[in-house]
Amino acid sequence: MNMVYLDNNATTAVLPAIVQAMTPYFTTAFGNPSAIHQRGVAARAALDKARQAVAGLLGCQAAEIVFTSGGTEGDNLAVFGVVKPGSHIITSAIEHHAVLNSCRRLEQIGCSVTRLPVDGRGVVDPDAVRHALRPATALISIMMANNETGTVQPVEDIGRIAAEADVWFHTDAVQAAGKLAIDVNRIGCDLLTISGHKFHAPQGVGALFVRRGTPLHPLMHGGPQEQGRRAGTENVPGIVGLGKAAEIAADGLQDGSVARIAAWRDRLEAAIHDAIADVAINGASTSRVPNTTNIFFDYVPGEALLLALDKEGIAVSAGAACSAGSGASSHVLTAMGLGEMRARCSLRFSLGKQNREEDVDAVLAVLPGLVQRLRDASPLYRRAMALSPVPAP
Ligand SMILES: Cc1ncc(COP(=O)(O)O)c(C=O)c1O
Repeated sequence: MNMVYLDNNATTAVLPAIVQAMTPYFTTAFGNPSAIHQRGVAARAALDKARQAVAGLLGCQAAEIVFTSGGTEGDNLAVFGVVKPGSHIITSAIEHHAVLNSCRRLEQIGCSVTRLPVDGRGVVDPDAVRHALRPATALISIMMANNETGTVQPVEDIGRIAAEADVWFHTDAVQAAGKLAIDVNRIGCDLLTISGHKFHAPQGVGALFVRRGTPLHPLMHGGPQEQGRRAGTENVPGIVGLGKAAEIAADGLQDGSVARIAAWRDRLEAAIHDAIADVAINGASTSRVPNTTNIFFDYVPGEALLLALDKEGIAVSAGAACSAGSGASSHVLTAMGLGEMRARCSLRFSLGKQNREEDVDAVLAVLPGLVQRLRDASPLYRRAMALSPVPAP
């Protein structure tokens, strides 16, 4: 069976060009970048090149990039890095758990946290950020794009508010990298997180932008790597992969490949709307990343539809990768006021660079039938449709 992979917000395939760029650093060109012999020097040069590429993607200086093990570490380093006991932090109800649970931990050690609500589209109101400011506010952490719905937050407005208030501003751009142009100066952020495996680099590598002059307490204590901001021997092959992915992502924003993905996503949404009754796109009426759609199918539990699609070789997600399977309904959709039932009856489809238009066709070929089958099996649906109960087998 040909697998149709539409769960790229969970993780992406490492592109062949990225595997090729990384391979020598496992084998013939391995080395510790702190060593002063030739292999060490070559590994250091590879890190420098990758740092330039990542800085190019984000519009910052190479020295402002700290390599990390991924989005979770980047978010933790940013959030814990600039606060102290007694600090106040402003965040939103729809952040990834890497930010939400970091904030929860900060509360246990004497910080206070304001979690701002979102509107029905899933968007934070910048005025609410302004009103939440207190004399003790040290950090605003609001994501650039949401992982479940793809909704884009008004980060430039929030950046201006943070600058006026002289408060550090962190944005989790894990789901924006490779999908939207990112310019840290236009956003006005001091800290910005990305994660390689969300844009075709391997899992376990990422970067945190740290604006020059931002005092950052490290999470890792050890050697002087990353200018003392993140101790530990660097993951050279992973970082080389991240650098290559950054180059490919920057090209993709120019060469039409991201626009093509957006067109397929739009086609998928329109065709689902035409073919299936009682569906709605969660967060559709605002700006979204081009690859993501989160769709509500009335009377169809998201997990049941996910498993039915999986049997057909189609991988999608019912909630964020980390909360999927936890039994909890999406904190993002419930924060949007969509209700427990709607949150449980929604699925996320997220496209990536390796998808083809045929993948959209493959979904459209089976989805209407699967939705109808699950609806027919739902007593609630049958009651609503005033159908007689399914006869005993
Ligand atoms: C918005 C967002 N932030 C952070 C993370 C965590 O990234 P990682 O899996 O690299 O730790 C994810 C992963 O799903 C994410 O979507």
